[in-house]
Amino acid sequence: MKLLVIGSGGREHAISKKLLASPLVSDVYCAPGNPGMSHDGIQLVGIEQRDHSGLIDFAMTQQIDWTFVGPEQPLVAGIVDDFEKAGLRVFGPNKACAQIEGSKEFAKELMVRHKIPTGDYQVFDQLAEAVAYVEMKGMPLVLKADGLAEGKGVIIPETEEEAILALGELLGGRFGDSSKRVVIEEFIVGEEFSLLAFVHQGRIYPLEIAQDHKRVFEGDTGLNTGGMGAYCPVPQIAAEMIETAIEKILRPTIAGLKADGYDYTGVLYAGLIATQDGPKVIEFNARMGDPETQVLLEHMTSDLAEVITGILGNQEVTITWDNAHVHLGVMVAAKGYPESYSKGVALPDLRESRQAVYYSGVDQVDGKLVSAGGRVFIMVGKGRTISEAQTAIYQALNQLNLDEFHYRKDIGFKGLK
Ligand code: GLY
Repeated sequence: MKLLVIGSGGREHAISKKLLASPLVSDVYCAPGNPGMSHDGIQLVGIEQRDHSGLIDFAMTQQIDWTFVGPEQPLVAGIVDDFEKAGLRVFGPNKACAQIEGSKEFAKELMVRHKIPTGDYQVFDQLAEAVAYVEMKGMPLVLKADGLAEGKGVIIPETEEEAILALGELLGGRFGDSSKRVVIEEFIVGEEFSLLAFVHQGRIYPLEIAQDHKRVFEGDTGLNTGGMGAYCPVPQIAAEMIETAIEKILRPTIAGLKADGYDYTGVLYAGLIATQDGPKVIEFNARMGDPETQVLLEHMTSDLAEVITGILGNQEVTITWDNAHVHLGVMVAAKGYPESYSKGVALPDLRESRQAVYYSGVDQVDGKLVSAGGRVFIMVGKGRTISEAQTAIYQALNQLNLDEFHYRKDIGFKGLK
């Protein structure tokens, strides 16, 4: 098979590499991809993810068997609808289904309609009403831009004053149309984990759970980022909690969507909090997580190309995992990220690394990789325990000259307790 992956980050690097490892696959193209991916034999296609007709032309000319859409923006913009109209097979939700991530209000209404456990909320488009609600409820609260905001649309203010200021900024157009409406939500206490599933025609195939580290500094302190590391599985989340999440959240969500006229295909990502009353949803995404994907696909022993082909062909598939190991990934970011940071910093040559490396914000200058974004690359390793996996990864990172970069030294810490 010849396959196309759309996107350009570490998540798409991991998806492409895993697909290319399949004996069923001769070529994996990634559009637009990034130069780090070519170290793994992935072929880069210079077409932007928003250029649906350019991508469709490419898929037709190259006789691509099917396409995997990585990021949320093209999904929310209807790339799946466009590919399907052109008669092309694609793994991802259509525009209507992708609203589950594209509109927080849509997701909340769906959950209320189908009794899926989540926090109380209200939606506002007027500042005065939003402020009155904050004053009435009191802190802690979570503020969310209704639409896509490149992972920056969730704010957890520490004080009422901060909340009111943030609401003014959001409703004042900080994220354009995406923050014209704001969801104000109850703050749910508990440990967060990510449960993803592949979905097609009402069937769901849950993946192993993972845990992301969103704050920039050790001990989950500092600003929110796109993710500083992840690991899977997550031993402190009990099997019963996961089973409840599958039965009371994933299945009723897909069944509820179907009952409402939405036939979901692709990845459903549930961001969950393990509470004393069971799991509760804090967000749904219409795609795989980044950096969860990079550890999940290292942990997966199944052939991903075979799994997705089987799912799209309505066959029963079984997904298998390396149960003898924990996989743990540490993100190496630009110093200063997520605030201002420099680009163009030379990267160490990682082609001989014994640990898996997935690139996100990189560019190529004179044949060498340089940084081109906040999150630059993730290194993923394994061990029989979380501390063994940490040792493997941190020993490898310590041997590199990363003075110009920053990485957290405690990925996996909650699993050690
Ligand atoms: N790791 C969080 C996300 O992908 O949304």
